[in-house]
Amino acid sequence: ATRHARRATATAHANIALIKYWGKADERLIIPRSSSLSLTLDGLSTTTTVTFGNDACDGADNGVADGADAAAADTDTVAPTSGDTLIIDGRRHEGTALQRVAKFMDLVRRMAGIDTPVRIVSRNTVPYGAGLASSASAFAALAAAGSRAAGLDLSPRGLSRLARRGSGSACRSVFGGLVQWHAGHDDESSYAEPVPCAMDLAIIVIAVSTGQKKLSSRSGMRRTVDTSPLYPAWIDAGERDMREALDAVARQDLEKLGEVSEANALGMHAAMIAARPAVLYWMPQTVAALHAVEAVRTSGLPAWSTMDAGPNVKVLTDAGHAQRVAQALRDRLPGCAVQVHRRGPGVVMENGYE
Ligand code: PMV
Repeated sequence: ATRHARRATATAHANIALIKYWGKADERLIIPRSSSLSLTLDGLSTTTTVTFGNDACDGADNGVADGADAAAADTDTVAPTSGDTLIIDGRRHEGTALQRVAKFMDLVRRMAGIDTPVRIVSRNTVPYGAGLASSASAFAALAAAGSRAAGLDLSPRGLSRLARRGSGSACRSVFGGLVQWHAGHDDESSYAEPVPCAMDLAIIVIAVSTGQKKLSSRSGMRRTVDTSPLYPAWIDAGERDMREALDAVARQDLEKLGEVSEANALGMHAAMIAARPAVLYWMPQTVAALHAVEAVRTSGLPAWSTMDAGPNVKVLTDAGHAQRVAQALRDRLPGCAVQVHRRGPGVVMENGYE
């Protein structure tokens, strides 16, 4: 056991893909079947403190709001597999969430040559598991704080590769602004890096439902890859989509970027819906939101839809039009929360890193 706990805190922001990641070539290493392109967003973030060592188990800074929260611990599923402690938004987790995080920390421990248990205290400004990319900000923050607390000093690329092992999309949240994840073919070659972008892009989130999703992206992906006859066609189109998107970014052509992004996302959902049984994340309000975005665009404003593993619709626009687009969407979709996000920063360590 260590006498001195080693501690680090990091903040990471969510990202929304314009060209999507859906499907793994290697399930263990999380190597994707295709490259993806995303925008890291401001406002939606996770801040995580990782503390190694025995004195991590008590003390005033335990992050639990009160006794009632601690008593409501999530003990529904599997018994704890390690001495690790996980507290998310003041609630202690001991089921599958702890297992997944402990497995990720095993990787970090192996890299650092230590076997000390950790305490992880995490706070989100994103509703947990709601299809608002909380796993991306969570694993990017955990990779940064966990590796630093373990005494590792990873390069940004090394951090991106590590975050990828927690949740694929997390490798993109290591960087700010527009980011490309190169699919690669093994652990070394699969990482994200920033893409220069002169456009001031913005994403508007239309919150259709913030409840927990029915099917994890992990299971949804596997079923789509294994059973959807449309999946190979979407992967084929995806290579072209990526080239067109990067070309549109270089030429600062928002309309072209919007068109290819919307087509790529809806094509992904077509492949999901064609899986057997269907991977259907849509709700009635999802369809209403997609039509509202089309109507706003027809009225002359730049607005294109994208969707992830949940019922919410996100809208690509630019910062100069974002407030007007958001207001037009609120007028058409009473009852849905509509929130503007501009581009956000990459991972930040509390004591100043990156
Ligand atoms: O990183 P995961 O396993 O949560 O997968 C994310 C998949 C999508 O959000 C649907 C698409 C993407 O590229 O972010």
